[in-house]
Amino acid sequence: MDHFLYRDGELYAEDVPIAAIAAQVGTPFYCYSSATLLRHYRLFDDALEGTDHLVCFAMKSASNQAILKLLADAGAGMDVVSGGEYARARAAGVPGDRIVFSGVGKTRDEMRMALTDGIRQFNVESEPEMHALSEVATSLGLTAPITVRINPDVDAKTHEKISTGKKGDKFGIPISRAREVYALAASLPGLQVIGIDVHIGSQLTELEPFELAYQKVAELTEQLRADGHTITRLDLGGGLGIPYTRSNQAPPLPTEYGALIKRTVGHLGCEIEIEPGRLISGNAGIMVSKVIYLKSGEDRDFLILDGAMNDLTRPAMYGAYHDIIPVIEAEPGVDQQPFDIVGPVCESGDTFAKGRMMPPVAAGDLVAFRSAGAYGAVMSSEYNTRPLIPEVLVQDDQFAVIRARPTFDDIIKRDTIPPWL
Ligand code: LLP
Repeated sequence: MDHFLYRDGELYAEDVPIAAIAAQVGTPFYCYSSATLLRHYRLFDDALEGTDHLVCFAMKSASNQAILKLLADAGAGMDVVSGGEYARARAAGVPGDRIVFSGVGKTRDEMRMALTDGIRQFNVESEPEMHALSEVATSLGLTAPITVRINPDVDAKTHEKISTGKKGDKFGIPISRAREVYALAASLPGLQVIGIDVHIGSQLTELEPFELAYQKVAELTEQLRADGHTITRLDLGGGLGIPYTRSNQAPPLPTEYGALIKRTVGHLGCEIEIEPGRLISGNAGIMVSKVIYLKSGEDRDFLILDGAMNDLTRPAMYGAYHDIIPVIEAEPGVDQQPFDIVGPVCESGDTFAKGRMMPPVAAGDLVAFRSAGAYGAVMSSEYNTRPLIPEVLVQDDQFAVIRARPTFDDIIKRDTIPPWL
């Protein structure tokens, strides 16, 4: 459920008409609903009630300071994957002891920064990284709390570009080698083994892969404990999918996911961390764009929007589907017509949808891309020198621009011409 609904034939974000935001901010823009963000965060938090837990929002999915502060104020921790994300989380007021650091390529500088700041834990993904962290920690006279990310070799049954827990993926340590890697961790100075980490992929629409992975984590916990390691924390990653179309079968709910966690690892007495991103932010954001032209091609009609692949990359990059709806609701039963919906960028890949059935639309009309709150704004770029589009946060009947659209000057000023030119 989200808070982007039609009222009297017009699309609203909570109590704010989308058209009113567009009039003030211009198009295209991202718009987020505070109530939806909080609702989705709380679904996870409630699903784990009764277990010691921390929901660490995967801020790679949406990392605006305002979104982070909203979630952090509600009690969320953060899952970060770069020094930049760490800095963003801290700047939004998230304490270090609520931040976990994931990712296969943490640099020594990033380790130093997070470690001196008092980070909650590093999820270590390889032996070379483990050696590096040990060296950084000892040079600072500090101890780094770590989990090891294991690769359970489970098929997440999702898009190949976002599957991470199968043999052959670049992530984690093969579970078959986990015991020797934990032995190495225990032998290195400056590291304190506290738990196990796993993340098998994103946009999972079934629970079975989670079940298989978490069962393996449970078995490994017992083995590692028998080997003498102290395992008190399990980071179970993110990945629960969202419905991208209303007609699609809905993916499992956080309550079912929470029950699965309790069933598979609840008996181990560990503190549980999860790292959901998409389910919290995905349906909490839309991208609003304006129709520039309707163009008739030889065998098809094009809807040319002012938003493009640089603003919302997912369709071009993964062939991802986003519902595209008119901001003024179509009359029920009205005739629909197929369009290729495209942006102005000079590539044929700048196509949001092919043959998409749309109600009558005209130049100047506003359309909204649903489910764009996750991996939307964060993956955007200024390709074709198209300014990063603004982000707007709505709460009840108020809205605020939480990232302003840069001017052309702002963009150009970032470049420097060397003295010899
Ligand atoms: N934890 C780790 C270690 C991750 O790598 C990810 C996502 C998450 C948590 C959050 O997963 P989520 O709950 O959001 O599924 N750009 C792609 C998605 C990439 C996901 C990368 N890792 C997309 O637009 O679909």
